[in-house]
Amino acid sequence: MTRIRKAIFPVAGLGTRFLPATKAMPKEMLPVVDRPLIQHVVDEAYEAGIEHLIFVTGRNKGVIEDHFDRQFELELTLMERGKKAELALLSEALPEAGTVSFTRQQSPLGLGHAVWCARELVGHEPFALLLPDVLVQHPRGCLAQMIDAASGLDGNANIIAVEEVPAERAHMYGIVGVGQPKGKAFAITKMVEKPKREDAPSNLSITGRYILQPEIFDILEKQAAGTGGEIQLTDAMVALARTQPFYGLKFEGRSFDCGSKIGFLTANIAYGLDRPDIAPELRNEIRRLLSGK
Ligand code: G1P
Repeated sequence: MTRIRKAIFPVAGLGTRFLPATKAMPKEMLPVVDRPLIQHVVDEAYEAGIEHLIFVTGRNKGVIEDHFDRQFELELTLMERGKKAELALLSEALPEAGTVSFTRQQSPLGLGHAVWCARELVGHEPFALLLPDVLVQHPRGCLAQMIDAASGLDGNANIIAVEEVPAERAHMYGIVGVGQPKGKAFAITKMVEKPKREDAPSNLSITGRYILQPEIFDILEKQAAGTGGEIQLTDAMVALARTQPFYGLKFEGRSFDCGSKIGFLTANIAYGLDRPDIAPELRNEIRRLLSGK
């Protein structure tokens, strides 16, 4: 498969599930330990070899642009105070000039529409799509695992990360049908967006990481609204699957749906417990809380 250079991050959502925290601050900037959610997902993309970040933003999301820019006054102050470690943290998070693009989704018409808004910036090459609500914790990031798996697949393959979900949660996700295995992946036979429990073709849900071929944009251009009255990416993928192969990859690692309060709080604990500098104290505090002392 052609090298995947560009990644789309749809960040236009309103974050209503986190109000009032998200009244003035984008949900993507909520911290998991000490990095904003979006930074975790961008790090995953970089680990997988992505060179160009494309953010599909909306109104009130300017802070995300600022996060991926220099903060001159802050840098100067840190320099004057000799805070080298903090300065290093800032420069690690700074993309090279010219490797980040922002475009706006002017109306909230759905994930499919958000992806379509990035068509000019992607051009005619396969690309990655990462939904920043989802974090996957594993020493090898989810997108890197997908790119590893892609090397054994057809040149025009589309790949989607999937994971098992309990049947009673199927209606919250896109669900895929399972065909023949191919390397670490398997052929997808069906895709349904937010099916009723009895209509779900399997217990494997779409996790928010995709590698897609650019032909998806031509389909999205004409895609009618589907589930929830939104232009659904899954519906466009169903149409593309008529002419191109789609594979699912059951990735390794644990996912956190940070679009939900429980998922977000659990992610904070899990990522905290993974940090040697804070894990021992955090573990003690959790024990104390649970024992009611
Ligand atoms: C989107 C996709 C869905 C996928 C989910 C993963 O839904 O449409 O197929 O399973 O992300 O988080 P949303 O969560 O935006 O409703």
